[in-house]
Amino acid sequence: MLLGTQRINAAGHLEIGGCDAVELARKFGTPLYAMDEASIRERCRAYRRAFERNHANSEVLFAGKAFLTTAMCRLIDQEGLGLDVASAGELHTALTAGFPPDRVCMHGNFKSLRELEMALDNGVGRTIVDSIAELNALNSLAAERGGTANILLRVTPAVDPHTHKYIQTGKIDTKFGLGIDTGQALQGVKIALECANVRLRGLHCHVGSQLLDTEAFELAANMMPQFIRQATASTGCPIDELNLGGGLGIRYLERHDPPSIDAFAETLFARLTENFGEIKQPLPKIMIEPGRSIVGEAGTTLYTVGPIKRIPNVRTYISVDGGLSDNPRPALYEAEYSAMIANRAEQIPDVTVTVAGKHCETDNLIMDIALASPQTGDILAVQCTGAYNYAMASNYNRFTKPAVILVHDGDAEVIVRRETLDDLTAHDVIPDRLRD
Ligand code: LLP
Repeated sequence: MLLGTQRINAAGHLEIGGCDAVELARKFGTPLYAMDEASIRERCRAYRRAFERNHANSEVLFAGKAFLTTAMCRLIDQEGLGLDVASAGELHTALTAGFPPDRVCMHGNFKSLRELEMALDNGVGRTIVDSIAELNALNSLAAERGGTANILLRVTPAVDPHTHKYIQTGKIDTKFGLGIDTGQALQGVKIALECANVRLRGLHCHVGSQLLDTEAFELAANMMPQFIRQATASTGCPIDELNLGGGLGIRYLERHDPPSIDAFAETLFARLTENFGEIKQPLPKIMIEPGRSIVGEAGTTLYTVGPIKRIPNVRTYISVDGGLSDNPRPALYEAEYSAMIANRAEQIPDVTVTVAGKHCETDNLIMDIALASPQTGDILAVQCTGAYNYAMASNYNRFTKPAVILVHDGDAEVIVRRETLDDLTAHDVIPDRLRD
């Protein structure tokens, strides 16, 4: 499986963004995250095209939680997308990169006062309010500043998780948002309208992630207009914006077949148009905040293969020089990945092995994958690591976080420097009494 600009070059090596992956590993070291700029830009454009074609009054925001660095903010800005941030750190990254704050949405189920203040003081476009307590806190902070906070209220459309198994965060039993079924969402709308220093611009919901079909989105597109009808009927106040969160899945494995961005947008707008037609209201501004489907397939992690352990009649382990700390997803979510030997990319995979990390625990990255006769010293390319890999990396076992490079048209540039051993101790403090 080759993704984005990946191809096999004349040397029989994997090439990404016009760069030989084996050369990249040699030049920048491993483990290494390589991000394919053309693929990121292409997905941004596909989203904007698809949404604007279906509904001129729509906005695509990139969910920074999937992968955020200052260079990534520049790309997103250049592509004209908005940005969803979920912490002071993500907001700081955006501001440091010069991302226009009015195109930023601030998320979080527990924003600290400092984070709310940061959003207000920097002119963040929309704060996505998650609770009534937060609504009141934001109202007070805005009043202290003599200003107004533009908000969306995050609501949770109750969908029975047993019948719709992909929906994880839009169901009633979740820490996020105000439940529609419990009446808290309507109460939130009423309170927001009473807050003098808050302007309720619309609603937000997010139903789940890595969704490989449109079912959950269609359910949200059915339920949200119903709630909007109820809210406008009982308050008389229009809801001008509807943000439907993120969630479109990607192709981690050959058998994954997510809808294209075009097909996804078509289906979503067909449902929305039908449902807003039924409640006799114009389609509000529609916002969407994809993360994984913009950056996931654009990322490849390059590792060096180390020791190979053959256990006769059981399994062969090949260890690589990374693992849990650069990709916690297999351990956390039983996530599956595809990979290839980058220096023998044209060779048919003929040996089944398990790819193990190098942490002090069983951090298998990929169970039972066929690879082309892996040998110590080979470069293993794990695909689809652009989302929630660097973003979720840790220093477990005091591993240094890998570098991130951006590849484009044969050039490769560092966008995050590899951590050094001294970076690891830079924040450590030895109290005086322990010095001798
Ligand atoms: N908007 C909100 C409010 C979200 O909570 C999320 C993801 C997104 C947008 C973007 O969703 P995406 O398009 O990337 O699916 N760490 C997990 C994924 C957690 C997703 C959390 N929220 C993983 O590695 O699979």
